[in-house]
Amino acid sequence: MRRCLPFFGLPLFALMLSGLLLQSATAAPDVAAIKDKLELCAGCHGKEGISETPNTPSLAGQPDQFLQWQLIYFRSGARANELMGPISADLSNEDVRNLAGYFAALPPPPAATSDDNPALSEAGAKIAAQNRCTSCHTDTYAGTKAVARVARQREDYLLKALMDYKAGTRTGGGVAAMADVTYPLKEDELKALAHYLANYK
Ligand code: HEC
Ligand code: HEC
Repeated sequence: MRRCLPFFGLPLFALMLSGLLLQSATAAPDVAAIKDKLELCAGCHGKEGISETPNTPSLAGQPDQFLQWQLIYFRSGARANELMGPISADLSNEDVRNLAGYFAALPPPPAATSDDNPALSEAGAKIAAQNRCTSCHTDTYAGTKAVARVARQREDYLLKALMDYKAGTRTGGGVAAMADVTYPLKEDELKALAHYLANYK
């Protein structure tokens, strides 16, 4: 059985050395301090963190720590993206905490009203069970700590993310698990997984 813990140790240690410690969600985010930035984010990630932009993830309801890590990976260049690279370069550690706290507290995307391909969802559910996706992403795929929420994420973005892990183009501290998980899976299987998770009830 795959375990989620070991690969968090090293990057966390590196960040502790650099003086940056992730804070848990106990302190309320200072929304006034990030007001202008939130308008920028909304332009691509949607109102209330629910994206209507192709290949762009919804951020609402993602675990606080997951969001903080991803912003730090973008800022350091560990996770390369031509849009998020320049945007994250301007963020202070305080901004990262406030932005992550803000989006983590928003209600996650609502369930899809209808599934246009239930057979594909069923196939995806089987592949998810065989690969124990819930062992890290939690039973409802809501994610926890540095593990992403994947339930009701945009289907196009889920497929892109899975393909990026498989191809080794998405890097960062916590990706070893996902590279491992996606490596043996075929594109058709990743499509089924993306459809299943996007339509998760
Ligand atoms: C110009 C469009 C654009 C803007 C503006 C933008 N983003 Fe993004 N963001 C993206 C795209 C596209 C991705 C997906 C990158 C990829 O495919 O790896 C992304 C990814 C992310 C992720 C990773 C989420 C995940 O599920 O992996 C976070 C966190 C994020 N953005 C936060 C923000 C925040 C906070 C702001 C505002 C300060 C912001 N973004 C502004 C386009 C944008
Ligand atoms: C051993 C733990 C583990 C297992 C098993 C696992 N994941 Fe993940 N997954 C993670 C972690 C950790 C991340 C965040 C990685 C990063 O920082 O990029 C992640 C990220 C993702 C993302 C990117 C989400 C985003 O918003 O960017 C997707 C999609 C995903 N996983 C789907 C799956 C699917 C589907 C399965 C089963 C086939 C699976 N995962 C199994 C730990 C796991």
